[in-house]
Amino acid sequence: MFYPEDLVEEIRVKNDVVDVLSSYIKLKRKGSSYFGLCPFHNEKSPSFSVSPGKQMYYCFGCGAGGNVFTFIMEYENYTFQEAIKYLADRVGVELPEVEFSKEAKEQADLKSKILEINKLAAQYFYMQLKNDSGKIAYDYLKNRDLTDETMKRFGLGYSSKYSNNLYQYFKNKGYSDEILKQTGLFNIDEKKGVYDKFWNRVIFPIMDVNNRVIGFGGRVMGDGSPKYLNSPETKVFDKSRNLYGLNFARTSRKNHLLLCEGYMDVIALHQAGFTNAVASLGTAFTQGHANLIKRYTDQVYITYDSDGAGRNAAVRAIPILKDVGITVKIINMQPYKDPDEFIKNLGKEAFEERIEHAINSFMFELEIMEQEYDMKDPESKTKFFGEVAKKILEFPEDLTRDNYIQAVAETYHVGYDNFRQLVNRVGIRLGGISPREKAKPVKNSIQSKDGGMKESQRILITYLIEEEGLYDKIKDYITPDDFTEDLYYTVACILFEQLKKGEVNPAKIINHFTDEEEHKQVAGLFNTKPKAVETKGDKEKALHETIVRVKENSLIYKSSNLSSGDIVAEMQRLTEGKKMIERLRTLHISLD
Ligand code: GTP
Ligand code: MN
Repeated sequence: MFYPEDLVEEIRVKNDVVDVLSSYIKLKRKGSSYFGLCPFHNEKSPSFSVSPGKQMYYCFGCGAGGNVFTFIMEYENYTFQEAIKYLADRVGVELPEVEFSKEAKEQADLKSKILEINKLAAQYFYMQLKNDSGKIAYDYLKNRDLTDETMKRFGLGYSSKYSNNLYQYFKNKGYSDEILKQTGLFNIDEKKGVYDKFWNRVIFPIMDVNNRVIGFGGRVMGDGSPKYLNSPETKVFDKSRNLYGLNFARTSRKNHLLLCEGYMDVIALHQAGFTNAVASLGTAFTQGHANLIKRYTDQVYITYDSDGAGRNAAVRAIPILKDVGITVKIINMQPYKDPDEFIKNLGKEAFEERIEHAINSFMFELEIMEQEYDMKDPESKTKFFGEVAKKILEFPEDLTRDNYIQAVAETYHVGYDNFRQLVNRVGIRLGGISPREKAKPVKNSIQSKDGGMKESQRILITYLIEEEGLYDKIKDYITPDDFTEDLYYTVACILFEQLKKGEVNPAKIINHFTDEEEHKQVAGLFNTKPKAVETKGDKEKALHETIVRVKENSLIYKSSNLSSGDIVAEMQRLTEGKKMIERLRTLHISLD
């Protein structure tokens, strides 16, 4: 470990798990725990639990779990060290400087090196914008109504007319070609050598949710092709998992996000006070984007370009968003092309009104469908309503279907009763009303994958943490080496030490592991409940069976793994073990 154990523990204790997680997820108290929707998988009813007592979280749906460090690692995509730094900052604990040796510095991982270069490049571009030579870019941005404050907030910049300024800047700082090539900021040409990818363009640094610069976009000033040039994907830039503006939007207090197409749309919207705007930047909207959004909200207003391409892009994005449980509305920006132009012409109040009048994604899809029919021709119009009826029949709930029947009747000026009859007829013709297939629940992989034995060991560990006094009742029978899995054994050793001292602290045990996967497994160990126990009697019976099973298994394990040491002594221990199991069988363990 990097930092002293005591310090890591101090930081953990000061960052209460409920406190920290509440700033990410809506949590509701239920008994001694808190519950909310899991940010690590899609779900509609909460199976994500946070226990103030254990100072841990665990999702009964997908098995994600750990302590406050694990959460920050998973959610923010941080390493263990980064999570420690973040949480230390949060509570004002100062961390000692970690000295890197020259070798260690050279070895420092590629990702952080690229991030460091990106940050320097963004600063360099910003300086250029503010220089005399950058006046042309500065004027361009001013012309597009951006304030100095906005330029600064988004770190906008300028790459000069010269095609190797940035390259020289980094060479002078001693960076090698090898690493520079991996940043996507340079082109490599066999004849010309290495030169800047961006020149004579306005620069838009792309930041991830943690404000780290992961890539760049560059726009020509005026007409020119390509209009926008974007960084290629690199070790730190995954286009399908980042949204432009999300670093600011995530902290906006709105309960929805505005999804638009371009850099300038996001910037114009933020400047007008809509700080919840993000963009997928020209790349197609992916499930990765949808999952990312789902962490912050379950309502999206699409404000793509109002032209055909924009509308088609919206039609493609809607099901992707809906599939992860996000409700979608579409903002109409006619007669303007995009939010930037809309606001420039009509102002923010008018945009606010458009948000209020945004239409439901289903009605938007009908609008698009309608274009394929000649609504002046009675036959074609009837066909259209037939298709609409089919679409309405996909809703599983009666009430939802009726709401849409009403909405369609109103929007398209047809009689409600007439249209309802049509929907029913189509339903019958299609062989009964067939609701969409229900999504299959996420299987609990932990329970199904391993045999009952590992589960018994996990149940026992959970019991030891949750049932005060149990340790004293079983300590003469069960020891850490009855836990035959390596990880379980390690955990049991630490847990038994804690129990001996009367200081149970499951979240601290997790600090012993730096790998997220291990955190998850340990969290599982502390959250395994036997099935179908309701009464105290059931619970005691289940516990008793568990203890006997664990002990028996341990004995079988030991007898098949006899060390070549003192055979006689080992045989003696086995015989004693067998006797102990006999005694255990008749023992009554009460839970009081
Ligand atoms: P402005 O003309 O500056 O207002 O652009 P915009 O923000 O309205 O962007 P537009 O709707 O033209 O395009 C949306 C997004 O697609 C842009 O922000 C870019 O990320 C991307 N994009 C646009 N043009 C190009 C291009 O020529 N090449 C690439 N790779 N991406 C582009
Ligand atoms: Mn635009």
